[in-house]
Amino acid sequence: MIAADRGSNISYENFTSAVQSSDLLLKILFLSGLVLVLLSGRRKHMTSNLPMKAYVRQGNLIANLAFTNQASRPSFDEEGQDKNGVLVKVISASINPFDYKAPKIMAGKVVGLDFCGTVTQVGKDASSKFKIGDLVFGCNLGTLAEFISVPTTQIAKAAMNWKPHELGCIAVAYVSPLTALKAGQVLDSNYKKVEGKDSILVIGASGGTGIASLQLAKALGFKRIVAICSSKNATFVKENGATEVVDYTNEREMIQFFGENFGTFDMVLDCATNSGHGEDYWNKSVQLLKRNKDYTFSGNYVALNGPPVKLLRYFFGMQKPNEKLIIATVENTSKDLEQIVEMLNKTGARPHTHRFIFDPVGIESGFELLKSRRTKGKIVFDISG
Ligand SMILES: NC(=O)c1ccc[n+]([C@@H]2O[C@H](COP(=O)([O-])OP(=O)(O)OC[C@H]3O[C@@H](n4cnc5c(N)ncnc54)[C@H](OP(=O)(O)O)[C@@H]3O)[C@@H](O)[C@H]2O)c1
Repeated sequence: MIAADRGSNISYENFTSAVQSSDLLLKILFLSGLVLVLLSGRRKHMTSNLPMKAYVRQGNLIANLAFTNQASRPSFDEEGQDKNGVLVKVISASINPFDYKAPKIMAGKVVGLDFCGTVTQVGKDASSKFKIGDLVFGCNLGTLAEFISVPTTQIAKAAMNWKPHELGCIAVAYVSPLTALKAGQVLDSNYKKVEGKDSILVIGASGGTGIASLQLAKALGFKRIVAICSSKNATFVKENGATEVVDYTNEREMIQFFGENFGTFDMVLDCATNSGHGEDYWNKSVQLLKRNKDYTFSGNYVALNGPPVKLLRYFFGMQKPNEKLIIATVENTSKDLEQIVEMLNKTGARPHTHRFIFDPVGIESGFELLKSRRTKGKIVFDISG
């Protein structure tokens, strides 16, 4: 998969009217684009005859999910295709909306992207960095399983004073906002906040990526961190870094906030738009971005999800310079993972977790909570001790 920030030289108006003329074409193109993105990050793994517990996708096009005790454990070829990887016994794995939205043809048989676990086998070329018994965390396709084979470029060693269920939540929920902060030009390539960029608005601030965004913004030293969430989560988001809270369920409060904050933010990080229940903050958020003297934008809007037309602009490299959708990558994330932990260590922040047992009842409860779109922080499964 990828992280992205691609330029454009095709007019937005021409592009928009062209794609709107065929909704079906749009959907087909979007799906084929996503398939390509995901397949590019997938490696075909050999399996052994040994059974393991896993949560799997059945059927290719619809994400029909089922718990099984009879999935095949990955086999691990230390000298061959796994020579740059490790085999991990998974201890904890968290979930993301992608897990129930993506069909097997895109995301593979086993569900899950994030994990923390113990190294049980090491590839020939990975032995200088990792050894059997190391506690590692990271990102891969198929982490809701007892064992996964993963390249070393997608993992980092566990940090001191972190628990496996906390590290098992880090990859997608934190790498995505980190990628967004870079795309929003408030974080430089050395993971330092760009000087003078001090105000950020986080929309959908109480969920998995929202809390991660607040915690990263606080650790980076943003002075003004505004959170949009429902009022019941106001205290929670303040505890995680927000300096102000706006209740999106209160129409009057929202109108007042958007009216009073025209042109005041260095960045808007949108974790809510197009998440499945008609959420749409895109156009009105752009109005909140700071502008230069010539009225061009100096602030940046970055969304983690968006309508098909924005996804198409992303896939075809035609995004507007100050309005971007990003899709985080699973590849080459080791440095990001290490930096995220280092940033959170500055403030002592940790993922806020809801833990479930990895059995048919636990998995159903965890996914029910995720699908409710009311989760505070992250849902994580205790896979093995
Ligand atoms: N681009 C990427 O690489 C990437 C990576 C991860 C996730 N995503 C996408 O990002 C989105 C968020 O993911 P997530 O894991 O953070 O989801 P999540 O944890 O399920 O989000 C739940 C949160 O959404 C909030 N929410 C629901 N409706 C809202 C609305 N109308 N306005 C504001 N907040 C609202 C809820 O807040 P209240 O309870 O306070 O109402 C809840 O705290 C999803 O669309 C996901 O697919 C993209």
